[in-house]
Amino acid sequence: MARRTEEVHVVVVGSTNFDVVVKAGRLPKEGESMLATNLKFFPGGKGANQAVGAARLGARTTFIGSVGQDMIGDFLIRGLESNAIDTTYVKRDAQRSTGCALIMLFPNGNNSIVVDPAANFSLTPADIERAAEVIAQADALSTVLEVPLEVVEAALRTARKAGILTVLDAGPPRNCPPEILKLADIVSPNETELEQLTGEEISGRVSAREAAEKLLDLGVKTVVLKLGSDGSMLVTGKSSKHFPACKVRAVDPTAAGDAFTAALTVQLAQGAKMDAAIRFANLAGALAVTKLGAQPSLPTLEEVEAFAARAAKTP
Ligand code: RIB
Repeated sequence: MARRTEEVHVVVVGSTNFDVVVKAGRLPKEGESMLATNLKFFPGGKGANQAVGAARLGARTTFIGSVGQDMIGDFLIRGLESNAIDTTYVKRDAQRSTGCALIMLFPNGNNSIVVDPAANFSLTPADIERAAEVIAQADALSTVLEVPLEVVEAALRTARKAGILTVLDAGPPRNCPPEILKLADIVSPNETELEQLTGEEISGRVSAREAAEKLLDLGVKTVVLKLGSDGSMLVTGKSSKHFPACKVRAVDPTAAGDAFTAALTVQLAQGAKMDAAIRFANLAGALAVTKLGAQPSLPTLEEVEAFAARAAKTP
């Protein structure tokens, strides 16, 4: 690998949310009030999770986002700063509340998430313009669909103009025009996000690959699919390759995809080959599943390396 993690600078443009998490037996029916248990509060948001993921892996990290002028916003910014993330470009919106995600964890290990992005949607292309110099000096930019699409476009265009690596984590599921998707060197959706982007129903690896190829037809160069407990898949114009999942005791899948994208971005920015970067990202994603909560579950470089060493010894 060409560079050490601490030598790379990653800019994340994205969302930051306050996650309200409960354990529930099932989804409530419409009109039903249902008791849940284990109420917990965590810092989250797909963008902020990726920033924390990158920082814990040792990369210098800048986060560009927006929170409300409220105590939850203070809490989230403090959390980012405690992970050594530069928050100079996190703006405060006096009109909207800080974004919030309501997360239910089910006995089968799955979750359901409802998000009100709130202040995350106050981010504008002008905010990206203000950070253009920082982006130009970075090694990679990753972004998500939990902020306005014109911001995603501005971020990817600015990064592309600077010639740095661009990664689009296509979550949460949204329609996104091909003109924006094409600006990313790598588009990384999970199955539901890929369904939303392509209109294809996915059940299993073959249909996932076929749907990913639809993205290639739209002009996307590289798709790195997150397949949850089935690992991940690289789909390019030349070929496709499946990467098996790492076996772990699953506690909470929240932010596993964010851990994956952060690790993939950092590794590629360091100069790792795509296959090695995806294997490393699989390890980071799997570790995130073993702990409760979004940001508390994101692994450090030492944790991923120790897990890789253990996995290598397991037959
Ligand atoms: O990817 C997980 C994240 O999605 C949660 O932290 C929640 O905030 C939602 O944005």
